[in-house]
Amino acid sequence: MSNSDYRRCPDDGRPEYAFIGRSNVGKSSLINMLTHNKGLAKTSVKPGKTQLINHFLINNEWYLVDLPGYGYARISKTAREKWQRMITDYMLRREQLVNVFVLVDSRIPPQAIDLEFINFLGRNGIPMSIVFTKIDKQNQREVAATVNSYKRVLNEDWEELPYMLLTSSVSQYGRDQLLDYIDQINAQLKSPQDPPGE
Ligand code: GTP
Ligand code: MG
Repeated sequence: MSNSDYRRCPDDGRPEYAFIGRSNVGKSSLINMLTHNKGLAKTSVKPGKTQLINHFLINNEWYLVDLPGYGYARISKTAREKWQRMITDYMLRREQLVNVFVLVDSRIPPQAIDLEFINFLGRNGIPMSIVFTKIDKQNQREVAATVNSYKRVLNEDWEELPYMLLTSSVSQYGRDQLLDYIDQINAQLKSPQDPPGE
């Protein structure tokens, strides 16, 4: 289902997990890798083309939500403001939203636009995790350097760092870890009285 208004999105109460990030970060590729469905999110469309909130029902249990990315340069002011309103409303008001995965490119040091978005989520108490993409494009040391620079910057404002994980849509690295993470949260939601890890 695709919508521009969070109030018209599915209202069956299933938990949902949103994926967002700068244009070209590898969001569509990651979604297709996670779902093992090459055609689910279009990787061929022009950047900035996704303009709606897209819900994909997974295993009849949870929703994967594909959101239009930010940081696309060739976009009008009106379109940018529309994006801002739609995303802000969705993030702040969507009750079913359980976690936001913010995708960042593992090759690029922290950028203002990503930090702004991450801090917006943090300030508003919206649970989030950072997903580093395209780790196959670098060696371990280079990936670690990017992760560490994020940790350094976020440590300035955050008491506790968000969960971070490394992924590659090419090698499928991180797929099990990300899906396990979602499964664990879903299990917690079903039996909130259980202590974590049991
Ligand atoms: P927009 O929807 O245009 O904003 O981009 P997106 O974030 O959905 O990125 P997309 O998945 O379309 O990927 C952008 C480019 O990066 C494509 O050329 C992909 O093939 C490439 N890419 C994405 N993920 C990976 C990855 O894990 N490894 C490598 N090597 N390339 C990747
Ligand atoms: Mg895309």
